[in-house]
Amino acid sequence: MDNEIKAYIRATKQRLRTLQDVTAAFQNVRDHTLRDVDAIAERAATGQSTIPELSYEHILNGRVSDAQRTAIRHSGAAIIRGVFPRQQAEDWNAELGAYIEDNDYVTKAKEKAGLDTYFSSLDAGSPQIFGLYWSKPQIMARQAESMARTKQFLNRLWDVRGPMGDEFDPDQEYTYADRTRRRRPGDTTLGLSPHMDSGSYERWVDPAYQRIYGPVFEGAWQDYDPWKATFRTQTREFSSPAVCSMFRTFQGWTGLTSQGPGDGTLSLIPSARAMAYFLLRALQDDVPEDDLCGATPGRALSADPKWHGDILKGLVSIPVVEPGDTVWWHPDIIHSVADAHTGTDFANVIYIGASPKCAKNEAYVRRQATHFLAGKSAPDFAAEDYEVDFQGRATIDDLTDLGRRQMGL
Ligand SMILES: [Fe+2]
Repeated sequence: MDNEIKAYIRATKQRLRTLQDVTAAFQNVRDHTLRDVDAIAERAATGQSTIPELSYEHILNGRVSDAQRTAIRHSGAAIIRGVFPRQQAEDWNAELGAYIEDNDYVTKAKEKAGLDTYFSSLDAGSPQIFGLYWSKPQIMARQAESMARTKQFLNRLWDVRGPMGDEFDPDQEYTYADRTRRRRPGDTTLGLSPHMDSGSYERWVDPAYQRIYGPVFEGAWQDYDPWKATFRTQTREFSSPAVCSMFRTFQGWTGLTSQGPGDGTLSLIPSARAMAYFLLRALQDDVPEDDLCGATPGRALSADPKWHGDILKGLVSIPVVEPGDTVWWHPDIIHSVADAHTGTDFANVIYIGASPKCAKNEAYVRRQATHFLAGKSAPDFAAEDYEVDFQGRATIDDLTDLGRRQMGL
């Protein structure tokens, strides 16, 4: 990390320490957070569900209860089942496999290895993630009506009102083209250690993040609401391959195969306010003055056993999800992908998050559209550009009216 950034960190820490007694505040937050993660761990140990679940059917029919909404807001995560029929997802899985095979992706990827450095500090090694953005199954899943309704439901869990008007439009989406994961059974090398995305040191030093987390930094952490949208679309992230420059209300993926505990898939800490613990932890006396528990610009923000060990017991696996089910988590949620896939089937997903209409997302989607038309990698990602001459990639003719609007075309 260069000296300029270290200087920012030192100055920020000094200033934040003048706003409250950070030791006392941390003790208080830690007590609350530990009670939450203890409860999560206990539920997991006794086989109870730890992540709220609902069926797409209930969203479609307006039958989601207030209790379910509260549960999602508390945990910061949700499983929404049956967004696509199982057969549809299985067909997409086969089609995506053929697209990779027919275009000889693996050989081409070996030639271009080393372009993606985002996760290089996470000790689990490089993930089984394919730098493909424009296959027909990805386009179809992103622009589906059922996906749009699901995202509308999720976006509406946020409080969008702000002094300068609504922070975003929860009812309209811009597409964030992301990659796809295909993980073979028996794989033991490919995983991601616990981390969060959407900014690392930015969460402390960026002015918009300082406003978002204002109550935590200013001695009123109980007033911190992870679902208050104000300033969320105004953060600026350090530019780096695979750092998301769109605002996402939720990260997420759509399952193409059946996968659950032991299958080398997703775990997370379903506690939306654990972020307060994370922020204040970095301001304690045992952390070096120019360090934020290892937060590094342009990298994922790691939850490190050395600093955050006492909350990692709240890291729980998702339950078994089936093809066509979707998994969602708030941008502040710590998550990981297991080192070992000990199951018997591929664990395949298409990454599709929720990124509603706002100025920040509109600016990105315009850049993204030109990449789509040329078949290049999406602008946030390493410029591998595999699909430029791939056979069978989606074109503008494959977009529905909704798909075009979501792509800013
Ligand atoms: Fe992540």
